[in-house]
Amino acid sequence: MAMINWDDKYKTGNNKIDTEHKKLIDLINQLSDAMQAGKGKEVCGKVLGELVNYTKTHFAMEEQLMATHGYAKTSEHKAEHTKLVKDVLDFQSKFDAGSITLSVSLFTFLKDWLINHILKSDMALAEGIATR
Ligand SMILES: [Fe+2]
Ligand SMILES: [Fe+2]
Repeated sequence: MAMINWDDKYKTGNNKIDTEHKKLIDLINQLSDAMQAGKGKEVCGKVLGELVNYTKTHFAMEEQLMATHGYAKTSEHKAEHTKLVKDVLDFQSKFDAGSITLSVSLFTFLKDWLINHILKSDMALAEGIATR
């Protein structure tokens, strides 16, 4: 199973944001590992739950930064977070209901889900709030 390797191109330059992104990537990789190892629904569901919770924590932290710095694109960025949380919660409920299984497509979904947001919106955020 593919893994996401941390790459400097994902670096936003904001230490706090980057540290949390590494943790998110780590959780996605853990989920991928659990799937690959054929771990049961319980183990995979637990890691998926951790990913969902940590995602919420991370987005709340970024939104706090936006508020502190009066970031101009706050509402657009928050709307993306809301959509991302909805996507992953939808995924989780389908998983809980047994209507989907964790698979390569999930990994691809999560990878794109996170990486696209980091490369575009979080980069802009870090730059927008950087003190020069
Ligand atoms: Fe973000
Ligand atoms: Fe982020």
